[in-house]
Amino acid sequence: MDGNGRWAEARGLPRIEGHRRGSESVRDVVRAARELGLQALTIYAFSSQNWARPVDEVTALMQLLCDFVRDERDEIMQNGIRLRTIGQIERLPAFVQAPLAALVADSAAHTGMTLCLALSYGGREAIVEAARSALADGVAPAQLDEATFSARLPTRDLPPLDLLIRTSGEQRLSNFLLWESAYAELYFTDTLWPDFRRAHLGAALDAYRGRERRFGLTSAQLSDITEDN
Ligand code: IPE
Ligand code: MG
Repeated sequence: MDGNGRWAEARGLPRIEGHRRGSESVRDVVRAARELGLQALTIYAFSSQNWARPVDEVTALMQLLCDFVRDERDEIMQNGIRLRTIGQIERLPAFVQAPLAALVADSAAHTGMTLCLALSYGGREAIVEAARSALADGVAPAQLDEATFSARLPTRDLPPLDLLIRTSGEQRLSNFLLWESAYAELYFTDTLWPDFRRAHLGAALDAYRGRERRFGLTSAQLSDITEDN
C-alpha cells in the first residue's frame, strides 16, 4: 500500500489524512477479496523501516491500526476470516498488541480467507531470522533446502504468493516478501492507495489472469502439462 502521503499532500491535507483514507481502502479491498474467494491476502501495513518516520506519523499509524482491529473485529469473526501477522509484533505498542493478539487467537481456527497483516515487517529481516533459527536448532548444512528453509519463514502457513500489487507508481519491492515473491506476478499501478478500491483489485486480478506463469519452463511444456491433466 503506497501513496497515502502523496494523496494527502496533493489536497493540502496532513499526511495522516491520507493514512486515514488509506485504511478505508484496506476495509474495502479486504471485503472484496473475501467475496471474490481469495484464499489469502497479505497487507504490507508497516515496514521495519517505517519506524524511522517522524514520531507523530508513527503514533498516528499505530492508532489507526488499533482502530482497524477494533472496528473490523466483528466482521472478521462473523465471516470466518483468519487473521494473522508477520513481522516483529513485539515492537508494536502494547495498546495495539493486546487487541491484535486477541483477534489473532480468536480467529485462529477460522477456515475462510486468511488476512495477514505485515507489521514491523521486513523481508530481509525475516530471512535472517529464519537462518538464525536454523543455526540455533543445529540444522546440518546438508539438511537445509528450500522446503526446510521456507518452513522457518513467518509465511510458512500461507499459500504460495501468486500476485503482488504495488500502488502509487513505484516499481520496487521495498523489502516485502522477498523470498516469497520469487515467482509472484508483479502488478504495478499508478493509483494511489487511498484511491485503490474493489474495482482496482478486480483490474489487477484480470491482469493476473492474462499472465502465463511458466516457472522456468517453456510455453510448449506448459500446454503439454495442461493436456495431460
Ligand atoms: C504508505 O503510504 C503507507 C505506509 C507506509 C503505512 P506512504 O506514507 O508511503 O505514502 P507516500 O509514499 O508518502 O505517498
Ligand atoms: Mg511511500
